[in-house]
Amino acid sequence: MAIIWDKSWEIGLKDIDAQHKQLVDIINELGEAMKSRKTNDVLSKVLKELDDYTRKHFAFEEAMMKRFGYEDLVAHKPLHTKFIQQIKDFRQQVDDGSISVGVKMFNFLGDWLRGHIRGTDTQYVEVVKAKGAK
Ligand SMILES: [Fe+2]
Ligand SMILES: [Fe+2]
Repeated sequence: MAIIWDKSWEIGLKDIDAQHKQLVDIINELGEAMKSRKTNDVLSKVLKELDDYTRKHFAFEEAMMKRFGYEDLVAHKPLHTKFIQQIKDFRQQVDDGSISVGVKMFNFLGDWLRGHIRGTDTQYVEVVKAKGAK
């Protein structure tokens, strides 16, 4: 079980695409850890890595939208906030043993990311590119 990165994930902005790929890599790392039955401790560490990198990416993306005057940032940002909260909740539940990392979580993370990139991130591409973003 792994998310396959291909061209269909790319939105055409170099840094953003690299960051999205990194997020896919971390989710796959989680899938791997899950498959090889790593301890909760290890899984929690990967979730922490996902949490940290997701925040980093969202901050970068939001700063870019702001820099290029993308007005829909106001609608985009709460979606990021909600996802960060979701990852935080997962981590907490994994840490206190109330849930384990499983296919459901893996699928949720992969589906959310793909849906967000294709449905939401793609919306700012033309606007920021027209203003010079690469
Ligand atoms: Fe986004
Ligand atoms: Fe993004």
